[in-house]
Amino acid sequence: MALSEISPSYAGSRVLPPNDLSSRPINPLLAFKNRRPSLPCSARRIPRILCSVSPNQVQAPALSATPAGAASKRECFGVFCTTYDLKAADKTKSWKGLINIAVSGAAGMISNHLLFKLASGEVFGPDQPIALKLLGSDRSFQALEGVAMELEDSLYPLLREVSIGTDPYEVFQDAEWALLIGAKPRGPGMERAGLLDINGQIYAKQGKALNDVASRNVKVIVVGNPCNTNALICLKNAPNIPAKNFHALTRLDENRAKCQLALKAGVFYDKVSNMTIWGNHSTTQVPDFLNAKINGMPVTEVITDIKWLKEEFTERVQKRGGVLIQKWGRSSAASTAVSIVDGIRSLVTPTPEGDWFSSGVYSTGNPYGIAEDIVFSMPCRSKGDGDYELAKDVIFDDYLRERIKKTEAELLAEKRCVAHLTGEGNAYCDLPEDTMLPGEQ
Ligand code: LMR
Repeated sequence: MALSEISPSYAGSRVLPPNDLSSRPINPLLAFKNRRPSLPCSARRIPRILCSVSPNQVQAPALSATPAGAASKRECFGVFCTTYDLKAADKTKSWKGLINIAVSGAAGMISNHLLFKLASGEVFGPDQPIALKLLGSDRSFQALEGVAMELEDSLYPLLREVSIGTDPYEVFQDAEWALLIGAKPRGPGMERAGLLDINGQIYAKQGKALNDVASRNVKVIVVGNPCNTNALICLKNAPNIPAKNFHALTRLDENRAKCQLALKAGVFYDKVSNMTIWGNHSTTQVPDFLNAKINGMPVTEVITDIKWLKEEFTERVQKRGGVLIQKWGRSSAASTAVSIVDGIRSLVTPTPEGDWFSSGVYSTGNPYGIAEDIVFSMPCRSKGDGDYELAKDVIFDDYLRERIKKTEAELLAEKRCVAHLTGEGNAYCDLPEDTMLPGEQ
């Protein structure tokens, strides 16, 4: 597996015996900063922030006089190089076992919101220590170091390890969660087919890496757009991981739909439940007002303006990302991070009785008559074990069926367009003309 070379920032950090401690610089970050520029990013090796379960409690800082290039077992970042006894912490704090969370696009805006939520315990719980494995690109490597520094400065008790790197085969090692955010945005003049191909290549590679090195039960949430088809590519390239473990993030769309319904009905948004987003995270997505409820009543009984529901509400949700880009000048980041948190929490906590949540999941075996073998957003329920079942108590009318057909056709077209990346022969791109990401209008 190809690793980048050792970085002087982390070079040869090692566990120093206690009588060496006086020789270390006082501020590990300062030393890190001062030494950083001497090797290019591409020559860096993955630095690790390690925790040790060794019982002898050696306290070692992030610094070392070991020359660059001398590989050590413990290249690490600042304070995280301290070796500590997690088992002892387990005893006093009744913590659960450490879980490994990989995040791609880790130097980006979404991650910058997400990582601190993960580290604080608000996602996996206050008794769940975590290891963060951050994947970036050569171009973003310095920013990734900055992210690691901020995590370090935040003194999160539950954050026990951090590693950063540019090789998915290294970063995804033993990952139990993979939050795949990194993707190239569609640039001026780029065809959607081109975007599907460029990002598809990334997700094919990451799927292969997950297949080779991640936990066999890794849960994967694909955020990078076009997320449904990226998730399909990813799962097709990871045949040894259950297809059911792959999700495309449509929780942001669910949250947007809940907000719009709550605004119209004049209620707080926690009163809106059973909100399904069907299909693609694109402007063909279907926010389902037929099955959604407000205060436990069908939305159509609370909001009787069906024209508004079919037109304004639907379009507002479909195009919310684009309107936001017009205002912000960039894609949603904080609300996307929040929706990733919501999506994970929906999988690790039992779904409230009668309710469900939306996620883009593998469609094979679905009870709704939706085409098989695509990643399609549907209503899910979880027992809180990381897994989900599709909700069965769902009703359809002609309008809903017709809308679902449209988003299904779009996803089938996207699938044909990436056949070369899913192992299904030659790609053939006949994408509907109006196919757009929420942010593309
Ligand atoms: C969003 O829904 O906010 C984003 O997916 C928009 C985009 O195209 O980046």
